[in-house]
Amino acid sequence: TPLIGIMMLAAYLLGSISSAVLVSKLFRLPDPRSHGSGNPGATNVLRLGGKFPAVLVLLFDILKGTIPVWGSYFLKIEPLFLGLIAISACVGHIFPLFFGFKGGKAVATAFGAMMPIGLDLAGLLIVSWLIIVIFTGYSSLAAILTVSLAPLFTWFIKPLYTLPVLMLSILIIVRHRENILRLWQGKESKIWDKTKRIR
Ligand code: G3P
Repeated sequence: TPLIGIMMLAAYLLGSISSAVLVSKLFRLPDPRSHGSGNPGATNVLRLGGKFPAVLVLLFDILKGTIPVWGSYFLKIEPLFLGLIAISACVGHIFPLFFGFKGGKAVATAFGAMMPIGLDLAGLLIVSWLIIVIFTGYSSLAAILTVSLAPLFTWFIKPLYTLPVLMLSILIIVRHRENILRLWQGKESKIWDKTKRIR
């Protein structure tokens, strides 16, 4: 139906707003696309500018997933199509129309898109991510392992949403292929690592 197409387009456009770039400009921080890991996301803004701007980026990028999925849920759109709308938001974040198609990894946006499934799922994802970051120091590894667990958690909490969550998880893992290679080679930067290395 046209409604699903309209919501997918709206999700893509909202996802295309690169909050990491905008917040960094606002706080006169180095451009996250050319400093640190080179990734325009909350992790890299934390490296380059500290906690406050990073939290702003995190919240904004989460909302980019939550708003279109939540809205579509109230428009009575089916789970599988909610999944497509969630993916559209993430694709917007990864390939932003307004920022030369050079975006981030959509971890926060995917999390935001999964949040409407339930606060129990959201809680499990946060705990999983935090435990891995605390023990390893790698934001990327925490994201990769947490999104790998997400379909399993969803299966137990709201089985109807397992397939849409699996689709999102695959997108996020594929987007982390450079991080996976760096983790494998022992060259990945930690969440608080300020060394200047461009992706
Ligand atoms: O949220 C993105 C994170 O998974 C990796 O970020 O900057 O360490 O490549 P970064």
